[in-house]
Amino acid sequence: MGNMAVYPGSFDPITNGHLSIVRRALTMFDSITIAVAANPMKKMLFTLDERVDLIQKSVKNDDKIFVDTFNGLLVDYVEGKKTNIVLRGMRALSDFEYEFQMSLMNRKLNKNIQTIFMMTDYKWLYTSSTIIKEAASYGGSVGGLVPDVVCQKLKDKFGFQ
Ligand code: PNS
Repeated sequence: MGNMAVYPGSFDPITNGHLSIVRRALTMFDSITIAVAANPMKKMLFTLDERVDLIQKSVKNDDKIFVDTFNGLLVDYVEGKKTNIVLRGMRALSDFEYEFQMSLMNRKLNKNIQTIFMMTDYKWLYTSSTIIKEAASYGGSVGGLVPDVVCQKLKDKFGFQ
């Protein structure tokens, strides 16, 4: 399988910012497994199946990108995948504290797991699934920030044409 990185998240829904991280990471890793958290702490807009389906449709058939789900601790999942690399994207400073906390907790839980951070492209600095959902919920256009299939699904979910 070569060196594979696990890219975990809630992906509620996947955005162009996430996809940019995956594409750029593929210049460093042989493959990326996008690991969708089945039971995130936050309340989700989309079901697990919907989140996975949107990712699969967004990455199309790329044999270097795998889409999977996980339950329980991330470090246990990563170890089960026979890799030790967790990939996370980082936007503005506001992400830092949360990411720092999470990677240190993961490190406490399993010293073999290494978290690699990639800075987001400036284009996606201020976008997040949360802010995209908020705009879409009022009928705001989020075209260009998410894949077309996600754009359509958000419109369907919030009852806009
Ligand atoms: O996209 P998100 O919501 O920032 O992703 C957070 C996620 C799913 C990666 C994180 O909450 C997670 O790893 N959850 C699984 C449980 C776990 O291992 N938590 C971290 C150590 S307590």
